[in-house]
Amino acid sequence: MAVNIKSPEEIQKMRTAGRLAAEVLDVIAPYVRPGATTGDLDRLCHEYMVGQQKTTPAPLNYAPPGYQPFPKSICTSVNHVVCHGVPGEKRLKPGDIINIDITVIKDGYHGDTSRMFYVGQPSIQAKRLCEITYECMWRGIDAVKPGGFLGDIGHAIQEHAERNGYSVVREFCGHGIGTKFHEEPQVLHYGRPGTGLLLQPGMTFTVEPMINAGKPDIRQLADGWTIVTKDHSLSAQWEHTVLVTETGHEVLTLSPGAPERGTGAPFTGM
Ligand code: MF3
Ligand code: CO
Ligand code: CO
Repeated sequence: MAVNIKSPEEIQKMRTAGRLAAEVLDVIAPYVRPGATTGDLDRLCHEYMVGQQKTTPAPLNYAPPGYQPFPKSICTSVNHVVCHGVPGEKRLKPGDIINIDITVIKDGYHGDTSRMFYVGQPSIQAKRLCEITYECMWRGIDAVKPGGFLGDIGHAIQEHAERNGYSVVREFCGHGIGTKFHEEPQVLHYGRPGTGLLLQPGMTFTVEPMINAGKPDIRQLADGWTIVTKDHSLSAQWEHTVLVTETGHEVLTLSPGAPERGTGAPFTGM
């Protein structure tokens, strides 16, 4: 199965879409606070995307095979929710951690990125999970270079997660991205170095590890979308869209509000 190599013109469009997705996270950050509902966050993001950016929220009505159309414009995954949390009446409270996952379409191309936010003051355990998951994503991204392999990415992530006593969710992975939301290749967050697809300049895909504080097992809720940890342990996720370049990689979903790597705490929404 063929993996798309993007042309310079396509890459320019991917840069724009990626930056716009990241900017939605910057804009929503101040609203991630106790008392807000996940539905409020969805509405604010939707209005910004459609009204200001003139982007299309890719999740809205997205219906991959076997799924009902996703009913909202963003994903909001709180505490033990692993991914694909559906915004609604749920009210954030102090100590919650939340992943907000934004995918926009601009000029036919997708940008996909997510961050963790603290609602008020996080517990030591929650903060540690979010920070280590952030470093897992970056170690995966470090492995993105021409001549490298997809398995290098998964290995780097798994190694760092498990060394810290955490587990990697297996059922969901990063993905190629471009004119389609999810395209080839699948980017597993576990694996062995030197295995899998050979990376080549012009490939664009996401790195988006989901890391659980407890066991790796997950369960899907009756809404057909929300994924939770089976043991109800906390779960965290971060996501960037990256481009393989001639010399290494370029992260396409950076913005002024993206937390710096290794500076300790990720962004805190108070
Ligand atoms: N943004 C998610 C990802 O990183 C996918 C969400 S699918 C949706 O791949 F329909 F739930 F939005
Ligand atoms: Co993604
Ligand atoms: Co995403």
